[in-house]
Amino acid sequence: MQIQNDLLLRAAKGEKVERTPVWLMRQAGRILPEYRAVRESVSGFIELAQTPELAAEVTIQPVDLLGVDAAIIFSDILVIPEAMGLPYEMVEKRGPWFPNTVSSASDLQKLRVADGANDLSYVIKAIEITKKELNGRVPLIGFAGAPWTIFAYMVEGSGSKTFSKARAMLYTEPKLSHQLLQMITDSTVNYLKAQIQAGADLVQIFDSWAGILGPEQYEEFSLRYIRQICDAVNEVPKTVFAKGAFFAREAMGKLNCETIGLDWNMGISESRKMIGENKTLQGNLDPAALYGNPDQVRATTIQMMEQFKGGRHIANLGHGVYPDIDPEMVKVFIQTVKSFS
Ligand code: CP3
Repeated sequence: MQIQNDLLLRAAKGEKVERTPVWLMRQAGRILPEYRAVRESVSGFIELAQTPELAAEVTIQPVDLLGVDAAIIFSDILVIPEAMGLPYEMVEKRGPWFPNTVSSASDLQKLRVADGANDLSYVIKAIEITKKELNGRVPLIGFAGAPWTIFAYMVEGSGSKTFSKARAMLYTEPKLSHQLLQMITDSTVNYLKAQIQAGADLVQIFDSWAGILGPEQYEEFSLRYIRQICDAVNEVPKTVFAKGAFFAREAMGKLNCETIGLDWNMGISESRKMIGENKTLQGNLDPAALYGNPDQVRATTIQMMEQFKGGRHIANLGHGVYPDIDPEMVKVFIQTVKSFS
């Protein structure tokens, strides 16, 4: 289907755009009262994500209510461990929790490589419905976690400041670690291909916990698997967002992908130099900037836009929008990007 507003896809590919496209990481859910109303009609996040009609509805909400240039499918990166045989729960106010974790070879034996289309058929169905309902208004972004970030949750069993259990395993059980990372990688390739088959127009890989590894370990236990995914998935443009991986920017510039996400700690001109002109950069306003008043939000957004000016750019925050941000300030951010020239 022809996409009417294809700014995101053109910007990703480095083609000419009339203005910079804008969307927000974690725009689906969280900040919108309309999202909370839908969520309250079901038992919780997991039921919502597993009900394709409702997942499609909350995916489209930010397009209608905020005016973003892309939709991102409502799901979570943790559907992959579940599809591999390690289910998760979403604990109110605390986040994800895994009743079982991976700490030994026998734990690994109980897992399987997910096939995407069957094991995650509810996400695939949600993508199909969303594409129909979007009717070509804006592109739909599919996504998955990077293998290292998924590994971190599967070993740790929950969120953590240090993920010390997960990091310890890289030292104590490097072989087992690589086996698990390879299984996650193979599952993720299957999953992204199934999302694309169902209609995803671009895919993003979230390496949310990139920044807790040192440079050598990041290369060995994360980047090498992201590279495999980028080399295997060639049907649509790809974005790699590795939060905190400032030390890997040069290497990321050589990945087989179109766009590199920057977090707000990464200097824009310095990142451009390290990554090069041949990639689109996505980001990178500090999400906390949206706590300001409208004038402050406009000023910081313009400051960011000035720094990206002249290069390939997709406007976004430097990480997901915080749950207590006023949707009005999100609109100011979006409007400021749209009227910037
Ligand atoms: O734009 C979107 O919101 C699309 C859907 C989306 C969710 N999670 C829904 C969600 C996306 C793209 C994600 C990605 C995700 N999930 C990441 C990578 C991005 C990042 O923020 O670094 C990570 C690390 C997770 C894991 C996860 N899921 C955590 C740590 C939590 C709890 C805290 C939080 O962020 O809300 C979740 C829960 C979650 N995922 C919610 C939503 C809407 C909140 C659950 C609820 O409604 O109760």
